[in-house]
Amino acid sequence: MRFVTLIFLCFLTQLLGAKIDERFAKSEYCIGCHQEQGKDWKTSLHSKSHMTKNPLYLKTLEYIEAKKFIYKEVQSLRCGKCHNPRMDTKDADISYSLSRAYGFENEESKKVSEALKDSTSQDGISCIICHNVEKIEYKAGDTNSSNPHKKTHRNSGFQALKFGPNDVMVGPFEESYRTTYHKMKQVPHFQEEVNKLCFACHYSSQNDKNIPLYETGIEYERSQSTEKCVECHMGKQEINIIAPNVKGSTPAIQRPTRRHLFAGARNSDIVKQSLKISLENKSGFLHVLLENITPHKVPTGFSGREIEIEVLYKKNNQIIKKVTKKLNTLYLDRHGRETISYIADELKSDDRLDLNEKREYTIQNVDGATQVEVNFWYRLIKESLIPILKIEDEVYLKKYPIYSKELKL
Ligand code: HEC
Ligand code: HEC
Ligand code: HEC
Ligand code: HEC
Ligand code: HEC
Repeated sequence: MRFVTLIFLCFLTQLLGAKIDERFAKSEYCIGCHQEQGKDWKTSLHSKSHMTKNPLYLKTLEYIEAKKFIYKEVQSLRCGKCHNPRMDTKDADISYSLSRAYGFENEESKKVSEALKDSTSQDGISCIICHNVEKIEYKAGDTNSSNPHKKTHRNSGFQALKFGPNDVMVGPFEESYRTTYHKMKQVPHFQEEVNKLCFACHYSSQNDKNIPLYETGIEYERSQSTEKCVECHMGKQEINIIAPNVKGSTPAIQRPTRRHLFAGARNSDIVKQSLKISLENKSGFLHVLLENITPHKVPTGFSGREIEIEVLYKKNNQIIKKVTKKLNTLYLDRHGRETISYIADELKSDDRLDLNEKREYTIQNVDGATQVEVNFWYRLIKESLIPILKIEDEVYLKKYPIYSKELKL
């Protein structure tokens, strides 16, 4: 009888996706053997997906707390659907707010603080998140907003990801005699169907009012591209030995591997490959021509990104006039004031470059100017949201260069 209970308990913990075996719970353990992947992954945004690691994520949660009176700890459990998909606790009930309001501890507050301290979740989108996904199941009509009580488009994050046994690392290759620490399993969502893995979190998301937040997956499907996400964001395949520091009696197999950069503006110059840009100076006008050469919008992803086009007219190297254009989105609250997408009532405008879109800006040249300099910059957070979110971290205040050119007039 006791044995049956034990089996039942094991089954239950499996079902809840609870406690990951300590040997596989943290990226640090994997990196001991997989240094190459670890070095890249640490530079990526995936490694920072937790409120204790990512200042913009934290500021966003604080802003929602101030505007909507949802404790940031509770909100972060909900956003954890994609940001921390293996967090044990997915939401908190009303007794959490009571415990906070009256300053006492209860079951609910203990559960929340434990979930936030959990070291696997603090590791963000870590090795064990992707490499333990046995199956991915999409269905329509499931919840896809950060509010688990709202039914919207299709499922995402932990709802779509079905995790397998902790000791089986799934990937592009068949079981090899070299792995003793863990088993290996070849799965299609690390080979020809690898986009499916990225779509679990990058497909799309809406807020409670059904207003779109991210739509990279939907954009990509419209593009009908055959180039996979990993080809640009994980680089070209190179022939390598996996875990070369693990020595065995038989020689290791050479494998086609990729970088684990999940390249973005912060850790690569991928933004320089987003647009085809040309300038023309014709009969008193400057024509700035741009074309999207990615299979999604530019900029895509997080709704706060922005590209700034800066046109500087100069006379003997002194700036005499500055013209700017911006590719971004504008979200408004119910009073018509700018806000962040998560709590917006309206998506007022979307000036990002659509798929295959070619755009031309025509600017009248300034009398007396001798040169004109054109710069394209990428911002992780649009300029007008910086004071709203009170973000001060240099990474977010910085402008990332895409293009710069000067013409004689
Ligand atoms: C003691 C060393 C060691 C540790 C620790 C280790 N691995 Fe491995 N791993 C290997 C070796 C060796 C291979 C096989 C290489 C080969 O076949 O040439 C491998 C293969 C893999 C593969 C390829 C799987 C496939 O089917 O394509 C993945 C993914 C992987 N490991 C992920 C992880 C993750 C995630 C962790 C941490 C939870 C981890 N490894 C910890 C040594 C290790
Ligand atoms: C479990 C959910 C999940 C999966 C699966 C996933 N991502 Fe992400 N990805 C995220 C989250 C969440 C962030 C933002 C992290 C943060 O806020 O710190 C992100 C960020 C990124 C970024 C932005 C990088 C930057 O520096 O700005 C890129 C690029 C990216 N992911 C590519 C991919 C690709 C390619 C795949 C498929 C191989 C993939 N992701 C799979 C959740 C996921
Ligand atoms: C042809 C190369 C290419 C392919 C294929 C591609 N991307 Fe991108 N991606 C880019 C470039 C260039 C940027 C930077 C400009 C931008 O934001 O659009 C980018 C930006 C992104 C960002 C935003 C990064 C940030 O810092 O916010 C995400 C997220 C992303 N891509 C996800 C994906 C996913 C998911 C796929 C597959 C469905 C994919 N990409 C396919 C080239 C590509
Ligand atoms: C966002 C999902 C994601 C995360 C997080 C991730 N990987 Fe991977 N990994 C992939 C994908 C996709 C591939 C297959 C790329 C390809 O060959 O097309 C891969 C391939 C591998 C391989 C096979 C060899 C290679 O490098 O291509 C190993 C080993 C591996 N990953 C280990 C790790 C380790 C260790 C970590 C944590 C430091 C990690 N991965 C984090 C998605 C991920
Ligand atoms: C459906 C999955 C999903 C949900 C739910 C989700 N996110 Fe994200 N989030 C992502 C992905 C994917 C990215 C990466 C996009 C990119 O980099 O352009 C991201 C990126 C971000 C970023 C940008 C971080 C940076 O450093 O650039 C912030 C901030 C953010 N999310 C906040 C939130 C908040 C707050 C919530 C809950 C209200 C939330 N997200 C819910 C998928 C999700």
